[in-house]
Amino acid sequence: MTGAGGGLGAGICTSLAAAGATVACADIVTGSAERIARQVAERGGRSLALHVDVADGASVRGAVERTAAELGGIDVLVNNAAIYPRRAWTQITEEEWDRVLAVNLKGYFHCARACYRSMKERGGGHVINVSSITFMVGFEMLLDYVSSKGAIVGFTRALAHEVGPEGITVNAIAPGAFPTQTWRLYVYSFPSNSATRAFTSFAIQSRSSSRMTTRSPTPLAVPRARQHSTCRPGSN
Ligand SMILES: NC(=O)c1ccc[n+]([C@@H]2O[C@H](COP(=O)([O-])OP(=O)(O)OC[C@H]3O[C@@H](n4cnc5c(N)ncnc54)[C@H](O)[C@@H]3O)[C@@H](O)[C@H]2O)c1
Repeated sequence: MTGAGGGLGAGICTSLAAAGATVACADIVTGSAERIARQVAERGGRSLALHVDVADGASVRGAVERTAAELGGIDVLVNNAAIYPRRAWTQITEEEWDRVLAVNLKGYFHCARACYRSMKERGGGHVINVSSITFMVGFEMLLDYVSSKGAIVGFTRALAHEVGPEGITVNAIAPGAFPTQTWRLYVYSFPSNSATRAFTSFAIQSRSSSRMTTRSPTPLAVPRARQHSTCRPGSN
């Protein structure tokens, strides 16, 4: 699980553990990964905290090797780590654009590649890529992020074709808004009368009253982690 220390990542880790999974909690912030791994362990699950920068192939390979060695192999990869700095598109520097794409897109590639061997050896597996509703509707001040989240959909479909015949399913989920700390920073940096703030606040309220809160973000992810390996390339 990448980005395990964040809002959605932490929720998925604890829910996967509650569903019986052993969870490797990977994050660029070591303390966050350790905190979530502890929470999993406190609830009786087996866990491992990992420091990783998903944008760095060597860092990812090291983390995956350690996971395979200490936990015995990888059945499910949840590609979740992402960054979404708020900036007008005219203010995004080339370096900032590259960093967002390196974390949000190349990071998913690094992780899928690094986990592939273990999944193949185990006769199959599941890759779950976290995209975003922002790709469907377009959002202001997030051009690099929204571009990366759209690319994840193509990445998911193409990879599903490549690895489906080997029993590895690849799916994307595109959550709506839910109030993680990072998302709050984004939304509440808009004036109170802006359309983006109104839309996201509405989306958060409707999600909070139904199933999509930071406590239970897994109705989408957990079933995909359990799916049998009857790959339908490019499915959802
Ligand atoms: N919050 C929302 O409303 C929302 C909506 C749609 C999609 N999403 C998606 O859900 C996922 C999680 O979002 P969130 O709101 O929980 O974000 P978040 O900022 O709370 O968590 C992201 C986590 O990723 C980690 N991270 C950042 N860069 C990393 C790197 N290079 N390597 C490893 N870890 C790294 C961060 O330390 C953090 O713990 C993202 O993919 C995001 O695009 C969120």
